[in-house]
Formats: sequence, C-alpha cells, structure tokens
Amino acid sequence: MSVHKIAVIAGDGIGPEVIEEGVKVLEAVARIAGGFSFEFTHFPWGCEYYLEHGTMMPEDGLEQLQKFDAVYLGAVGYPGVPDHISLRELLLKIRKQFDQYVNVRPVRLLQGAPCPLKDVTRDQIDMVVIRENSEGEYSGAGDWLFRGKPEEVVLQTGVFSRKGTERIIRYAYELARKMGKSLTSISKANALNYSMVFWDQVFEEVGREYPDVETKSYLVDAASMYFVKQPERFQIVVTSNLFGDIITDLGAAIAGGMGLAAGANLNPERIYPSMFEPIHGSAPDIAHKGIANPLAAIWSASQILDFFGHEGWGANVLDVIEQVMVDKKALTPDMGGTATTVDVGTEVVALLSTIH
Ligand code: NAI
Ligand code: MG
Repeated sequence: MSVHKIAVIAGDGIGPEVIEEGVKVLEAVARIAGGFSFEFTHFPWGCEYYLEHGTMMPEDGLEQLQKFDAVYLGAVGYPGVPDHISLRELLLKIRKQFDQYVNVRPVRLLQGAPCPLKDVTRDQIDMVVIRENSEGEYSGAGDWLFRGKPEEVVLQTGVFSRKGTERIIRYAYELARKMGKSLTSISKANALNYSMVFWDQVFEEVGREYPDVETKSYLVDAASMYFVKQPERFQIVVTSNLFGDIITDLGAAIAGGMGLAAGANLNPERIYPSMFEPIHGSAPDIAHKGIANPLAAIWSASQILDFFGHEGWGANVLDVIEQVMVDKKALTPDMGGTATTVDVGTEVVALLSTIH
C-alpha cells in the first residue's frame, strides 16, 4: 500500500471551502480504488496567520513542507493584507525554493461547461499549456533609477538562461511525444530581439532530438487570436512565464471559466514537492457562504492523481466533473445552479462510487 503524503495549505477566503471538497474526493478515490492512500497534514498559513504572526508562514515553513510528496493549495490573499505580500511570501516562495519550474494548465472544454465562443465544439478545445514558471519576465531583475525625479527610469529585465529555457522546452517535447500530440511554441521574436530569438533558437535545437513531434511556432499576438478563433490549432503549448500567465487566463475563459481552471506547479525531478491548486483566488465576495464552486479544486485533485501515477483515476474524476455539469443537478450559483459547495463534492463522490 503506497501512502501519498500531502501538505494542505487551504489558505484564505473560499480556499478552505473548496479544498475540503477536493480532499473528500481524493479520500473517496483511494477508498474505491484500493492499493494506495493519502495522508493529509493541514497548515493554517495565509493571511489570517499573517495578521496574527506577522508572517505568511513560519520561518522553517519550507523545511516543514519539504517532507511531503505534494502541496495542495487553496488560495491566498485577503483584504487587509497587500497582495504583493501574500503572493510573494507564500506562493512565489514555494514555487521558487522548490524549483517548480513547470506550470501545467489543462485547457479543455468539458461537456456541459460554459463556453463564451459560439459554434465551438468540445473537441476543438483540448490543450495543455506548459508555462515556464521560474524565470523569464518574472525574474524580478531590474532597477528603479532617479525615483520620483523627472529623469526617472525603470528597467524590468527578462532573464532567459540556457538551462531554464532548455528544460521547459524539453519537458514540453517529452509530453508531446508521450501523448502523440503536436507542440506549439508561443514567443515574440520580432519585437523581443534577444530573449525571444534565443527562445526560438532553443525550441528548434531541442526539436532536432524529437523529429517525431510535429511543431508549430506562433507570435503571442497571433496565438491569442487563434485561441479564440481556431483553438483546435493547439494541442501541447509551451511558452514563457509572462505570455503563459496571460494566455492561460484566456484559456480558462474559453474553457469553462475560473470555477473550473486548475494548475500544477511541478518539480519534475521530484527532488522537491510539487504544488497543485485551483487557479482562482480567495473570492472574498462569496467567502463563508458555502457557495464557492469546488470543481476547479476537484480538477486539481485529478492532477494530483495523475502526478502519482493513477492516471486512470485522474481521468475518472474528470469524467465525473463532466457528468455533474451535464446533469445540472448539483451546480453552484456561478454555474447557474443552487447547490452548495458541499453538495457538489458529495455528488462527485456519489458518482465516483458508481464507477466501480
Ligand atoms: P478571485 O478569483 O478570487 O475572484 C474573481 C471573481 O470570480 C469573483 O467574483 C469571485 O466570486 C469569482 N470566483 C472565483 N473563484 C470562484 C469559485 N470557485 N466559485 C465561484 N466563484 C468564484 O480573484 P480576485 O477577486 O482578483 O482576488 C481575490 C483575492 O485572491 C486577492 O487577494 C488575490 O490576490 C487572491 N488571489 C490568489 C490567487 C492564488 O492564491 N493562487 C490567485 C488569484 C487571486
Ligand atoms: Mg495569473
């Protein structure tokens, strides 16, 4: 019996509400599947913790997390604590220190999911976006000179190391090969004459080792247009930190909205724990009402199952999410229903039990 040890940082606002349902689903899967189990340890870190202790997590927080196989994160951020503190001192710290350089965001239109594009069918939106998660435009390098003076100058430097660029592109090629899908690189070499010319060059160089993988390369502005007009062009997508940030929100919008979108922050070498999260925030406007949609958190639970090698069960969870949206019996208000967060989780568990 293998035991997967998971650190749960439910966080703020609706974070704990949706994560509880995700945990419920993972426990149900382990019970039904047999052969493996989960051990959850809860860490009360986040903004409330900050208001009490003056830090988002204890000083040895990362050491405590290091012992786990994965981190399951709800959302952090709440009015009263500046966003740059909550984001930088918890989320970004974990991503950076644990070298979670791959951000995996499935963009897949499930049956029954709301889609703002007209005349688009399910099979036309089915991609996986691989976003560089450790450097690039978000490296934090730069300077702020003559602050407040008329000659004020700010510099924000993109950092693209050979190691960092190669490893993300290689990860994407491997995934494309494994899944038998095409790989599209999104860049902007016409305007970013160092970083993106380099990116394109590395994409081509690494590609020589993968002659079996069909490749495409788009400028980010054109890619944004195709995401909306012809999303079927994309299967596996690899892109930089900033472009990935923007394009995955666009992806979430065309594939069911924030109530569904999940993301994984992976350290593929598994030296450090990887982190799984719904990508929405703490939604203070609906917190503590029991009406948050837990499906994104449950989708991220299915990514946890994939990560631990239980891909069959990961797929089953997605099938059940799909069924919940088709049945429309247990949907939260954001999806036009009247169900509570707990109702949705309970329905998912009930449907999973019928699979066996
Ligand atoms: P948000 O995602 O929390 O909310 C945006 C809108 O979507 C709100 O109207 C909210 O009610 C709705 N919404 C979001 N998730 C939902 C769900 N599961 N079910 C139903 N409705 C949902 O984004 P916002 O308002 O910009 O940020 C609120 C706080 O969350 C901020 O402090 C922000 O920094 C933080 N945040 C944290 C993230 C994280 O931990 N990864 C990501 C994004 C924001
Ligand atoms: Mg974002």
